[in-house]
Amino acid sequence: MSRLEECFNVQDFVAAARSRLPAPLFHYMEGGAEDELTLRANSGAFARYDLVPHYLHDIRKVDMRRTVFGCPLEWPLLLSPTGLTRVFHPAGELAVAEEAARAGIGYCLSTMATTSIEAVSQRCTGPKIYQLYLLNDDGLNLHMIDRCKAAGFDAICLTVDTIVAGNRERDLRHGLTVPPRLNSKNFWSFAQRPRWCLDYLAGGGFSLPNVPTPDGGDLGTLAAFFAAKMEQNITWARIERLMKHWGKPFVIKGLQSIANARDAVAAGVSGIIVSNHGGRQLDGTAATVDLIADIVDAVGDQLEVVLDGGVRRGSHIVKALAMGARACMVGRPYLYGLAGFGQPGVQRVLSLLRQETARTLALLGCANLDEISRQHITVAGKLPQFLTATAQPDASHTLLRSVK
Ligand SMILES: Cc1cc2nc3c(=O)[nH]c(=O)nc-3n(C[C@H](O)[C@H](O)[C@H](O)COP(=O)(O)O)c2cc1C
Repeated sequence: MSRLEECFNVQDFVAAARSRLPAPLFHYMEGGAEDELTLRANSGAFARYDLVPHYLHDIRKVDMRRTVFGCPLEWPLLLSPTGLTRVFHPAGELAVAEEAARAGIGYCLSTMATTSIEAVSQRCTGPKIYQLYLLNDDGLNLHMIDRCKAAGFDAICLTVDTIVAGNRERDLRHGLTVPPRLNSKNFWSFAQRPRWCLDYLAGGGFSLPNVPTPDGGDLGTLAAFFAAKMEQNITWARIERLMKHWGKPFVIKGLQSIANARDAVAAGVSGIIVSNHGGRQLDGTAATVDLIADIVDAVGDQLEVVLDGGVRRGSHIVKALAMGARACMVGRPYLYGLAGFGQPGVQRVLSLLRQETARTLALLGCANLDEISRQHITVAGKLPQFLTATAQPDASHTLLRSVK
């Protein structure tokens, strides 16, 4: 297994996570739905865009501060909500929230978290967002919102792309259960990771303290939970009632169309997170970086638009900002760090991403986030003007297609 100091980018942490986690848990984290087309597209599509530097600007100080969804950020990143975080490492959500605060960015706690709203609030001094899954009982939904109010959360983010569970075949293949339990399919995977098993047992097991079930705790499989509790008829009227009850920034995560973005404006939400759930829900949807510019053009002057999915480099963050995103979110990258090395792993992942973002901005000639624009981005493999302006349209099409 690699050492922490030998991890120099997000990808390096994937190997560390794989070597520490039992296979069912690694694949639960890493995998996507069905053929994983969307999962791969999310990261891959960033290569479709080239950066265009404009030098001879004063970049002695690069200021990356920005307020997003009412949260003041030192640099434009929020940590996406991820359920079941303590199965990856007993330090769990508290370690991630603490590192987000240390890095000066926002943390989003999942409804499916293994740490309570109240515990995160006590430990996390930075901006905090609660990710709400709408349950089919508004009493329970309002109860979660009231707990967030009491705990001083800054914003609520409603995830709308999980009305049914995505078809994640890696979970079936590897015998994933929630909570983790031994079975004939996964026995050897756990037996090969004794350190994880000891940590998990010493870490006090598993609960979902934000899901207001009568008995808390064991919910059987995730699929059973989704089937039993998840609201499958989320309406804008319902969202408006929840927003009113909350009274602070309220954002929607999981939108991918201009029509939905316009509806969000009409409903008066503060922002949207363009997301396909990291390719874990509907496979065959577009990479979010390919959607963001058109959505920003349609609604960006009326609400904040944030990109989520596939971000693995500071240069990805900068490309999204150049398209018009207010900020980006990452899910798996901090989980790789957590699974591989616990809290120090999260710290290093965030520190590397921050350095990459600042370096990319400086190399583009941008001293602050207002200076980054579409002048700094172009399609990858763009042909020189003398070819595109004259008689060779076929050659240009062929070449453009080959970089996809
Ligand atoms: C292990 C795991 C658990 C997740 N759990 C949730 C969740 O509880 N709620 C939610 O809105 N999104 C959840 N997501 C999706 C993330 O919030 C985010 O959309 C996705 O990870 C972004 O893609 P990335 O991992 O490529 O950064 C989860 C993602 C992962 C990898």
